[in-house]
Amino acid sequence: MEHSALQQARYHYKPVLPKILQNDISTIAPEYGEKTESAGNQTELKEYFAHSYGREVVTFTEGESSPRSEPISIGVVLSGGQAPGGHNVIAGIYDAMIAGNSESRLYGFLGGPAGILENRAIELTANFIDQFRNTGGFDMIGSGRTKIETEEQFEQSAAVCRERGIGALVIIGGDDSNTNAALLAEYFMEHNIDIKVIGVPKTIDGDLRNELVEASFGFDTATKTYSELIGNIERDVNSAKKYWHFVKLMGRSASHIALECALQCQPNIAIISEEVENNHTTLGELVEYLAQTVVTRSEQGENFGVVLVPEGLIEFIPEMKRLISELNSILAEHNDYFSTLKTFEDQSEYINKHLSRDASYVFSSLPNNIQRQLLMDRDPHGNVQVSRIETEKLLIEMVEDRLNELKAEGNFKGKFSPQHHFFGYEGRAGFPSNFDANYAYSLGYNAYLLISFNLTGYISSIRNLAQPAEEWIAGGVPITMMMNMEMRKGKMKPVIRKSMVDLYGKPFKAFAARREEWAVKTSYTYPGPVQFFGPDEVCNRPTVSITMEQKG
Ligand code: FBP
Repeated sequence: MEHSALQQARYHYKPVLPKILQNDISTIAPEYGEKTESAGNQTELKEYFAHSYGREVVTFTEGESSPRSEPISIGVVLSGGQAPGGHNVIAGIYDAMIAGNSESRLYGFLGGPAGILENRAIELTANFIDQFRNTGGFDMIGSGRTKIETEEQFEQSAAVCRERGIGALVIIGGDDSNTNAALLAEYFMEHNIDIKVIGVPKTIDGDLRNELVEASFGFDTATKTYSELIGNIERDVNSAKKYWHFVKLMGRSASHIALECALQCQPNIAIISEEVENNHTTLGELVEYLAQTVVTRSEQGENFGVVLVPEGLIEFIPEMKRLISELNSILAEHNDYFSTLKTFEDQSEYINKHLSRDASYVFSSLPNNIQRQLLMDRDPHGNVQVSRIETEKLLIEMVEDRLNELKAEGNFKGKFSPQHHFFGYEGRAGFPSNFDANYAYSLGYNAYLLISFNLTGYISSIRNLAQPAEEWIAGGVPITMMMNMEMRKGKMKPVIRKSMVDLYGKPFKAFAARREEWAVKTSYTYPGPVQFFGPDEVCNRPTVSITMEQKG
């Protein structure tokens, strides 16, 4: 395989570890804090996690300690969507493991959690790992979305680990995978199986966090990549002055990505799903706001603009939310019959018969292509796949219709030439920024330390992220601390509570304070590409959101 000049240069980058992790492992000691409680439903969670609930938060400090010194075999798995930095987590685990005992072994399960169940793994050696240091993607061992969540799957995982002599599993994933890591850890404890399970927070979406897990790796690079592209589009529209660009941004339900990109690029409009839900904004109201902004700008001679649309928006608009929930239930309940219907006409007729009157009205009022997208396959949880619904096109069509009405009334004299984009995959596998390269490597290195102190059911936690990497704090957080009970496929289940945009938080407030000005007055900022070499303020700055949250 040929390597680009940048890839070769990145091989030489040495990720920066927090100062405490730079010490000899035998001089690092865990300091145990207070016992913890779960984010909600404490009584039920205590029962679910009888052996692992409520453990203490751990912080690593300098001191005398006795970490495990005998060799160990560790299994690692990448789970879910790609996020820049995954390879560095694995490199971090490996380097710490070898520093702990050079006889230890690291195995990578192939193709995600299915690799554990099917016992497909390779040994990750120094030479092999070296080809992936500081590179993006998950191609070192691949990833997948299979869930390990049933008793049989837990037993199968134990059998595979026993067969390979694996004493610890590191699960690199998002909220679902870390939820399942906690369940697996509990299962192993309950059955006296000596296999430790440690989670690592991964997802570009930025929704796996609490006050002690300040970010998931990948969010930094993904938002910087999208911001570069949005900035380029802004500069393009500000040059040609003839298009309105509607940009849908990945991020699933939460709008963290859209908010961060808005703070970096100052577009004319950024929709934040959490606010739409909070204000019960209807689709009609949203379209009116967009259309009126187009009108106001056109009155200033500015027939151009940029709108950011979060991927999950559609599920937060009240009438759409009701419609989607009814569709999910109908498709789950009548899936066998529904899948025999071959034409869209038959499908929509069947669906309309089963929808409530209001939902059926909303469904019928949607453009044909959106109706089709709403009926597509569900994800493994039975939910609509928001990344496949073209909300940006839906908004464009509806704004266009409204502007035509306004034109007919003599209230719009400008032009509206829309363009649409969806930025998602472009940001998930890029070379990790210096921040993500350091952060992911530290998370992996730290995961090994948690194992070496016999901890299980913990998520690797590196904190104080607004400061330079050397000043970061390392430790672990019991996964149960992030959990509550939620309805899944008709049953209450323990899950990690997703972190949504906080409408009282500093990043959202800073955005809300400026957005009216940005809507009317062109105020674009152009972040440019992720930089690896150069001054700190260009190459090592954390996201605007983290900086605002921690530094004000
Ligand atoms: P994870 O939650 O697994 O990290 O994935 C995030 C994500 O990129 C979402 O933003 C997006 O909705 C989804 O994955 C797309 O999934 P897929 O890769 O299966 O198309």
